Amino acid sequence: MKVNGQPYRTIWLKSDDPKTVQIIDQRPLPHQFVIADLTTTAQAATAIREMWVRGAPLIGATAAWGMYLACLEAVSQADPTAYLHQAREILFNTRPTAVNLPWALDRMMALLLPISDSTQRIEVAKLEAEKISEEEFDNSLKMGHFGLDIIQKLHEQHPDRPVNILTHCNAGWLATVDYGTATAPMYVAHDAGIPIHVWVDETRPRNQGARITAWELGQHGIPHTVITDNTGGHLMQHGMVDLVIVGTDRTTRTGDVANKIGTYLKALAAWDNDVPFYVAAPSTSIDWTLRDGIQEIPIETRDAREVTHIQGKLPSGEIGWGQLTPDSSPALNYGFDVTPAKYVTGLITERGISTATEDGLLELFPEHS
Ligand code: MRU
Repeated sequence: MKVNGQPYRTIWLKSDDPKTVQIIDQRPLPHQFVIADLTTTAQAATAIREMWVRGAPLIGATAAWGMYLACLEAVSQADPTAYLHQAREILFNTRPTAVNLPWALDRMMALLLPISDSTQRIEVAKLEAEKISEEEFDNSLKMGHFGLDIIQKLHEQHPDRPVNILTHCNAGWLATVDYGTATAPMYVAHDAGIPIHVWVDETRPRNQGARITAWELGQHGIPHTVITDNTGGHLMQHGMVDLVIVGTDRTTRTGDVANKIGTYLKALAAWDNDVPFYVAAPSTSIDWTLRDGIQEIPIETRDAREVTHIQGKLPSGEIGWGQLTPDSSPALNYGFDVTPAKYVTGLITERGISTATEDGLLELFPEHS
């Protein structure tokens, strides 16, 4: 996607230094656009844990590039195989909910462990990290085109006005390698000339909607309005939402969906108001080993400071943090919740749209039968 007219992806190898991975540091967005260098596995792990990069597909891609950096580091290690295992653990222990993380790490390890020649291992790691990034890009584009059908049909029902789409958090191009998951159908529809308007949930506490989704939609010229997290239900009751599309960090084989905290409440409101609730779920976010999302999906708990404090641009133009809550009030910060499959109208995958059921998913992905 473009930033001030210039095309970017979210992660890439530095053109004049193949030992450096570059990312867009998402922490200062939307007020500053910063590119950061990752040159060690430890830095890649920090970037994931501290959310310089975030969003399930991008977490997976960054982990893959982290393993590439580990292969570079392994050259000077007495036991390169042990070092790769150690690097995998460091990267794995960053964020627990997105299944893309173990998926990418396991895929890299399966290829790398049998290779004993260090030069070959580095080359294979580079090619595989590039492949994972390319595949995520491809998944996003395909989901965009499948999701277009849904938006097109809603447009045909109300040709006189924009299709109003509500989204939560940032499942946009900055959460993936490019194009996004939930936003991909929005970009494709907008580019196809279908008038759309997006309600952007601010998404407390990290405000990925207000800071990141709003910024990227604005960069692409898509009309949007930022709303507080509590507004969606009211809008749905008044016919102001035609469709909800969100992303997912982990979807079970039965269609339960873990996504950013607050998604479940949006699904309940959508259910009560007959608003279609779709989840854009690339296969890299599907955990085929799980059946019961509420019981089995690990839910990240983050620092309470993200709740007690809020980031913003100060009058000086600097980015700063202000305290919201009383000094002595404790806070609790769950990062994700689980929306049971029964509230999900459909899963938009790179192979088509499925019901949020095991049968539906297996029709598209029979290799997981
Ligand atoms: O905590 P984050 O910002 O990594 O959470 C991101 C989300 O919840 C996204 O909706 C999800 O990862 C899908 S990304 C395309």
